[in-house]
Amino acid sequence: MTILGIDIGGSGVKGAPVDPAGGDLLAERFRVPTPQPADVDSVVEAVAEVAAQFDGFDSIGVTFPGVVVDGVTRSAANVDKSWLDAPAARLFTERLGKPVTVLNDADAAGVAEVAFGAGRDQSGLIMMLTFGTGIGSALFLDGVLLPNTELGHLEIDGADAELLASDRIRETEDLTWEQWAVRVERYLRHVEMLLSPRLFIVGGGVSKKSEKFFPLLDIRTPIVPATLLNNAGIIGAAIAAGQAAAGPGAQHPGAIPVDAAAPA
Ligand code: BGC
Repeated sequence: MTILGIDIGGSGVKGAPVDPAGGDLLAERFRVPTPQPADVDSVVEAVAEVAAQFDGFDSIGVTFPGVVVDGVTRSAANVDKSWLDAPAARLFTERLGKPVTVLNDADAAGVAEVAFGAGRDQSGLIMMLTFGTGIGSALFLDGVLLPNTELGHLEIDGADAELLASDRIRETEDLTWEQWAVRVERYLRHVEMLLSPRLFIVGGGVSKKSEKFFPLLDIRTPIVPATLLNNAGIIGAAIAAGQAAAGPGAQHPGAIPVDAAAPA
């Protein structure tokens, strides 16, 4: 089975066909800039443009940087407000003519890392955090996703955590790695206090520079960078779409037990 995975990000909409059983990209990614404003109609067209580059896939998985419940987008912290309560899965399916599964971007990245990356074969509670335009979170218990956790919006000292410690804030406030690490540590300690995860997996573009800030973090929980880097969203979206294609009775899109995720 070949599934097209498409990742809607703040700056680009990227896609590639994926073998969901092996987690491999089957062709080079194709990217178009995220339309500005990133309203529903423009983004649906951008996704269609990416999809048009490929053929031979059965269904499509799409990530979205907000809450997604039953294919409906329920929040829009960093995207155009036209996404609030948009029937995203239906709109994409109608436009693309193939079944489309939509899930949160951090959930998708986490699903991919748990299946094929830094979270593989990890039991207990593990947490993926993506530091980018916002802070995304994905929580897994024994490999099964608890979707839409939105822990990037925890309040830290009266402020939304992602307005304090996202990678965008590091850049816009021109923070040094040391200054930013103080904020990230404050955030991670708060999350540790609330949830006691066994492992933090850090994704987002900044995970490529983990050596710049991981050594500065004084936390109790082991912390590792994501290993699938820019492709995690695409791969996770494809895994979720593959599960949805398995039909009614299959798990919630994105839920992926460790055993089922591991290739035979
Ligand atoms: C959104 C999350 C998303 C994260 C990363 C946050 O602002 O609320 O749903 O996962 O940004 O894109």
